[in-house]
Amino acid sequence: MNANVKPQGATDTQLVDKHGRVIDYVRLSVTDRCDFRCVYCMSEDMTFLPRQQVLSLEEIYQVAKAFTELGVKKIRLTGGEPLVRNNVMSLVENIGSLPGLEELLLTTNGSQLEKLAGPLKDAGVTRINISLDSLDADRFRNMTRTGKLDKVKRGIEAAVATGFDAIRLNSVILRGRNDHEILDLLEYAMGLGINIAYIEEMPLGEVSDHDRLDTMVSNEEVMAVIGERYPLTPIDMTTAGPSRYYRIESTDTKVGFISPVSHNFCDTCNRVRVTVEGRLLLCLGNEHSMDLRRVIRENPGNDEILKAHIVEAMDLKPKRHYFYDKDEPQLVRFMNMTGG
Ligand code: 5AD
Ligand code: SF4
Repeated sequence: MNANVKPQGATDTQLVDKHGRVIDYVRLSVTDRCDFRCVYCMSEDMTFLPRQQVLSLEEIYQVAKAFTELGVKKIRLTGGEPLVRNNVMSLVENIGSLPGLEELLLTTNGSQLEKLAGPLKDAGVTRINISLDSLDADRFRNMTRTGKLDKVKRGIEAAVATGFDAIRLNSVILRGRNDHEILDLLEYAMGLGINIAYIEEMPLGEVSDHDRLDTMVSNEEVMAVIGERYPLTPIDMTTAGPSRYYRIESTDTKVGFISPVSHNFCDTCNRVRVTVEGRLLLCLGNEHSMDLRRVIRENPGNDEILKAHIVEAMDLKPKRHYFYDKDEPQLVRFMNMTGG
């Protein structure tokens, strides 16, 4: 067995990288497509990948299975918008039944949740993150280019009624767009008894809509706005990755601040990503990766070879990432290719 897989007790296996970090969390992008065109995520005229370049549902399942057999306990399905992929529910059900998987998470834009919240819960999804940047129908439309606020709100409320372990809204705050809605979004989450995370815009892909150095609102600013109205009590969470969490007293709502740009969380990074093309990305901010699609297609049905490659790829995980070099964005990948 490769040195990177350390036996733990009799049956346990773990993925460990060269810097001693245990990898037990994988984010799988199931499609690069989306029914929205959010201004910070996509350009207006996105072209999507041809079908043969995208992993099939069976191939995605094979990847998920390999990771769980290597000790991964938590999988997040992302996109694009995962719920617009044809037959995605069969994949969710199959992944939800994998032995060893403790948490199945989903990131969605909420557009399909009104009908799918119940089936997702039945398939084993434990927690959902739902993007929501505005509570004003026109501005919502403007920021997503195609989204309908009412439908998304009905989806969010259906998810709340279904009763997941946790639901979190994700809000990307852009100066001059929705920076005056920070409290409204928080109060909407508080009213539903769910959590909210404010995300700093990341420089992924060239977007046509705005210059990112003008629109970035730091989480310090967002915190200051909230702190004036609601005192924030820090919550100690070691596995939070790039997020810091706070409680708002006498409510059920936790507030997260995700600062991929201004904070360095790499020392405790426990996660890797797989793009919809089957590229295993060892770090969001670097191009260190391995082509798992090639491995799968050259060795059909061979789980052992796939697992050996995943183990080997751990050596590629860099110690830390960086996004900006002299204020120049470094990445050309789009978020919908990477998985949010
Ligand atoms: N910067 C920050 N967040 C982004 N998202 C998509 N693109 C970006 C970006 N460039 C967010 C979405 C969603 C989550 C998956 O990632 O709003 O909530
Ligand atoms: Fe779609 Fe999410 Fe990107 Fe918006 S942020 S375009 S909802 S993938």
